[in-house]
Amino acid sequence: MEVRKFRFEDLAAVVRIAQGALEEKYTPEFLLYLWQMNPESFLVAERGGNVIGFIIATRLALHELRILMIAVNTHMRKQGVGSFLLKQLIMRFPEVRKIVLEVRPDNVEALEFYKKHGFRVKGKVDDFYTDGSAAYLMEKILF
Ligand SMILES: CC(C)(COP(=O)(O)OP(=O)(O)OC[C@H]1O[C@@H](n2cnc3c(N)ncnc32)[C@H](O)[C@@H]1OP(=O)(O)O)[C@@H](O)C(=O)NCCC(=O)NCCS
Repeated sequence: MEVRKFRFEDLAAVVRIAQGALEEKYTPEFLLYLWQMNPESFLVAERGGNVIGFIIATRLALHELRILMIAVNTHMRKQGVGSFLLKQLIMRFPEVRKIVLEVRPDNVEALEFYKKHGFRVKGKVDDFYTDGSAAYLMEKILF
């Protein structure tokens, strides 16, 4: 498995994975906008020539990143792909000391995933998602 920066030709695969994995529906245009804004922190995992997962983060400050999305192809979950994407992201930003993200409180897999990687729930944001549900705000301090 290889983790590398997103390229335009990955778009269809990323849209497919996002649609199968995330409750919010993101258009190809929005994903391209996120790529324009975050070309260094939009990464994909590729295996056997296929994109099987992706992570998008954005910089909030010199020492702080916010994860906007992470998703792995349904059939490829629980095989370490998500963990590899997260570790590769962290490796590429050695100056980052803190990572934050929002997650749905009922998304057990994601909550467990983030807890395993050292994230802690720091608060709750009301009306975060388009359907009006709240989000947990999680944070990981790297150093
Ligand atoms: C969250 C997600 C990216 C994890 O990716 P993954 O490749 O399956 O994760 P990994 O195989 O690296 O799992 C690492 C750890 O996460 C936790 N985890 C992952 N899937 C889990 C599940 N179904 N149930 C409970 N814990 C789970 C476990 O602690 C696991 O460690 P273990 O394998 O030692 O038990 C993936 O489940 C996914 O795409 N979910 C849908 C999209 C989503 O909800 N994204 C987050 C939005 S904020």
